[in-house]
Amino acid sequence: MTIALPDGRRSEIAIGGRIRDIGKYAGEKRVFILTNPEVFELYGDAFPAGAAVVLLPPGEKNKTLDTVSAAVSRLIEEGADRESLIAGVGGGIVCDMTGFIASIYMRGVRFGFVPTTLMAQVDASVGGKNGVNHEGYKNMIGVFNQPDFVLCDTETLRTLPERELKSGLAEVVKSALIADAALFEYLENRLGDILERSKEVLDFIVERSLRIKAKIVEADEREAGERRKLNLGHTLGHAIEKLSDNAFLHGEAVGAGLALAARLSNRLGLLADGELSRILRLLTAAGLPVAVPIEIALLLEAAEKDKKKQGDSLHFVLNKGIGDSIVKKMSCGELRALFGDAG
Ligand SMILES: NC(=O)c1ccc[n+]([C@@H]2O[C@H](COP(=O)([O-])OP(=O)(O)OC[C@H]3O[C@@H](n4cnc5c(N)ncnc54)[C@H](O)[C@@H]3O)[C@@H](O)[C@H]2O)c1
Repeated sequence: MTIALPDGRRSEIAIGGRIRDIGKYAGEKRVFILTNPEVFELYGDAFPAGAAVVLLPPGEKNKTLDTVSAAVSRLIEEGADRESLIAGVGGGIVCDMTGFIASIYMRGVRFGFVPTTLMAQVDASVGGKNGVNHEGYKNMIGVFNQPDFVLCDTETLRTLPERELKSGLAEVVKSALIADAALFEYLENRLGDILERSKEVLDFIVERSLRIKAKIVEADEREAGERRKLNLGHTLGHAIEKLSDNAFLHGEAVGAGLALAARLSNRLGLLADGELSRILRLLTAAGLPVAVPIEIALLLEAAEKDKKKQGDSLHFVLNKGIGDSIVKKMSCGELRALFGDAG
């Protein structure tokens, strides 16, 4: 699969690719792998021979400019130059930071990802958003830049803790809700196989999710319209992450955000009662929260602040049945009134 942007830039996405395949993209040049200690411990042996390794400290609290600065110092020490290839091997945090570091190092070098969490395979590694958090605001500093390649090796998901796998599933459910009713039904039927990490089933859901994301990104890389749909569940999901001080994983917060968006869509007559029940049932079966112990008024306040900081108005994504969605510009007052009944 490829993502082909109107200006000719392309990303190659290989589902079933392996970590060692990174070497193929480097040619004669040395590869610089950015990863974290946990992933290095598990998969360092599979890194291409001769690759330099730069370890990034794990966790959302370390997704910062300080970590970027330290990684740049290490790349200089290791002798990375303009012709080098930088590869991020790890979850969404490693991928987001690698894309950013590669985009600014010597004004930009080639880069690619080997995402090793479901979250990173179906979402973070594809779409060209790279960046870091700043003063409690998520992904406040960053760039749009597409990787040369993304190698999705679903075998690596075998070592992923179950909670992380379920967190990634939230994004798969999101993709299905936005654009693929058949994928939603597949998830309902094959959830057990997903949780048992059947390679065939994981390859299938990764591919289907990526097709949806690729199509949307090709049409609207910079999120001026259609791409906003990918934020289904995220407006309130980000607020949940922030107000809970990251007690919820990203996907868990998105799961709760999806449930809130579905309730609101039902309230607005866009989603039938039976469809709402199916969504809540799937999220619950996937081990994702469908409610959080934070008042909706506080979540809306946080969402509004977040958007103001970004100079954006609140574009709320709603379900239109299962497998379709719409973006509605709404004020916080309007949302508060509606959630009064639906929250
Ligand atoms: N750029 C985007 O479009 C985009 C989209 C979605 C999410 N994100 C970002 O991604 C981040 C979340 O990503 P995540 O959920 O992958 O979290 P993460 O990167 O923190 O990884 C989760 C944990 O799993 C470990 N891990 C990674 N691969 C493993 C494996 N194969 N086996 C065992 N353990 C493994 C990691 O070390 C980490 O402890 C957030 O910062 C979010 O903002 C970005």
